[in-house]
Amino acid sequence: MSVIQTISAKKLHPALGAEIRGIDLGRPVDAASFKAVNDAWMEHLVLVFPEQHISDEQHVAFTRYFGVPEIFHQDIIRSKRMKEIFRLANVDEDNNLMPAKHITLRQTGLAQMWHTDSSYRPLPCVGSLLHGLEISRTGGQTRFTNMYRVYEALPESLKKKVRGRKARHDFGNLHRLADIKPLTEAEKAAMPPVWQPMVRSHPVTGRISLYISPIYNDQVEGMDDAAAVTLIAELTEFAQQPGFVYSHQWEPNDIVMWDNRCTMHQVTPHDPMERRVMHRTTIEGVDPVTAA
Ligand code: OGA
Ligand code: MN
Repeated sequence: MSVIQTISAKKLHPALGAEIRGIDLGRPVDAASFKAVNDAWMEHLVLVFPEQHISDEQHVAFTRYFGVPEIFHQDIIRSKRMKEIFRLANVDEDNNLMPAKHITLRQTGLAQMWHTDSSYRPLPCVGSLLHGLEISRTGGQTRFTNMYRVYEALPESLKKKVRGRKARHDFGNLHRLADIKPLTEAEKAAMPPVWQPMVRSHPVTGRISLYISPIYNDQVEGMDDAAAVTLIAELTEFAQQPGFVYSHQWEPNDIVMWDNRCTMHQVTPHDPMERRVMHRTTIEGVDPVTAA
């Protein structure tokens, strides 16, 4: 007798997020299941897959259904064991708890600010899949905001400021925000700043969203630096209203997958003495950001 499992999606918040059951991410995914997951992803923006006891190899293999895994361009954060894995962890790969002042934690700690992943690349990534291996009970929730809804709801005065404008996304801006490991010349040359439209259309859904990434945005076309910073702060404040935000309380072995083209995220602070180990894969970008 064979057991046919059906994939189900349960909404987690009125604005975005759905919990997906009925699929084992550690096994090959057939075309119908892939389509069900992908359709749910485009509809809900953030998918939570509970109870996925998968290895890094299986995590990367599942990611490949959606595209090419992005390799992070710095050797800190990237796993030494598997180059496709990006580690958000206060425990190193030799299992030692890292001191809160550790240079890697000063960098990953910036994920407490709203952003969308790898927006500093000419072709920003499609999405990210984060695996909670050791999760936090003192904080460490990951919060997501629906940037389609944010754009729709923006007051006309703000819409006017962002429509037809580009913002600069610079990986190097992290160094202006925190005292972190200086970039080598090779790292700088690998990631020159890029200018991206602040209002974009989604290449799959065709829907329009605001596109900013506050940790990387340092300049806005036609504005001086102070005005740019003020505008990004104002947009961020608007985007984080509870009506737009799903906050994920992790359980061990959750996989959370989000679309970086139409969401932003941040992590809430947690006790640095509490172990937290999260492994991320990232789906490499294929489409340029198209202005809407
Ligand atoms: C990320 C990120 C949030 C977290 O994985 O891209 O920003 O919960 N992390 O650690
Ligand atoms: Mn991130």
